[in-house]
Amino acid sequence: MSDVLKVAVIGGDGTGPEVVAEGVKVLEAVAKLENIKVELTPFDLSGERYLKTGVIVTDEEITELGKFPSILLGAVGHPDVKPGILEQGLLLKLRFAFDQYINLRPVKLYPGVETPLANKKPEDLDFVVVRENTEDMYIGTGGWMKKGTPDEVATQVAIYTRKGCERCIRWAFEYTRRRNNPKGKMLTLVAKTNVLTYGHDLWWRTFQEVGEEYPDVKKDYNHVDACCMWMVKNPEYFDVIVTTNMFGDIITDLAGILQGGMGVAAGGNINPDAGGTSMFEPMGGSAPKYTGLGVINPIATIAATAMLLDQAGYSKAAARVTSAIQTVTGTKMKSQAAGKMGYSTSEVGDLVCENL
Ligand code: IPM
Ligand code: MN
Repeated sequence: MSDVLKVAVIGGDGTGPEVVAEGVKVLEAVAKLENIKVELTPFDLSGERYLKTGVIVTDEEITELGKFPSILLGAVGHPDVKPGILEQGLLLKLRFAFDQYINLRPVKLYPGVETPLANKKPEDLDFVVVRENTEDMYIGTGGWMKKGTPDEVATQVAIYTRKGCERCIRWAFEYTRRRNNPKGKMLTLVAKTNVLTYGHDLWWRTFQEVGEEYPDVKKDYNHVDACCMWMVKNPEYFDVIVTTNMFGDIITDLAGILQGGMGVAAGGNINPDAGGTSMFEPMGGSAPKYTGLGVINPIATIAATAMLLDQAGYSKAAARVTSAIQTVTGTKMKSQAAGKMGYSTSEVGDLVCENL
């Protein structure tokens, strides 16, 4: 935690800038109340810019961004840019460039928020997914042979390293310990050891070995397919989940819809090492059809801002934001869906500020 909280702000495309404006509004309001000095620096990175200039992000910009402990990212995605270009050229590029090896996805049902699960209440849906964020099928290892012919062969290799899984697993144990769930501290490894007998065996062995250092944390295991069933049937079972990059991507979309969907779910790409740069974002995309209408839900971005504060060491400010979100979803907002909130995007931001 430093004297000044320096935040790089990337609004991005579509509704990104609108939701980021509300995150910034709340950040500035809570900083004032908590006497935190905040310095915001905007970065113009977007699909829009890529279409105009052919540049997604320069090496200089990456070096500049790397000087910030925290980045707040709205959304990057443009209907006229082929899928994969911006994802790989910006989002994954930044995750890898800053070695953000933790993808943290809290799954929390806020009061008043509708879940597709029948009879589940906020106390039943409160767990966290720790997703490895730098390995697996995401690293782009693979290739084609005889491309475009009937004999085509394609490979997409999942790479797991001891270092990569160990640092993620250790961080997850530490996190579970800190979270200190009153129902009992439990870390569930989610993998597929019955089929991925090399890579996930490495995860399994590392989990057991590192787990010995944490006798106070219950060690649990779910195959990823079974995890999806339990998440729907008994979400209250989970405390913290640690999992691989690809499976983490999939199960956090399932978890995201359980907690109310795109308008609510937030995530952090974290480099927890000293001097690391971490990046926080709402899980929803750029939602082009809602752009400029003032109807998009900023709660996910405000929740991402709370995560940013927490990671930067301002846990009291973070808790204030989370509690204000809960007041607003529980007592004010009609729905979390775009256009149905009962308020505009900026009014929701104002309400959170008023309830800090
Ligand atoms: C996410 C997204 C990204 C991912 C995409 C946009 C590359 O789905 O943050 O979960 O797969 O990690
Ligand atoms: Mn995803």
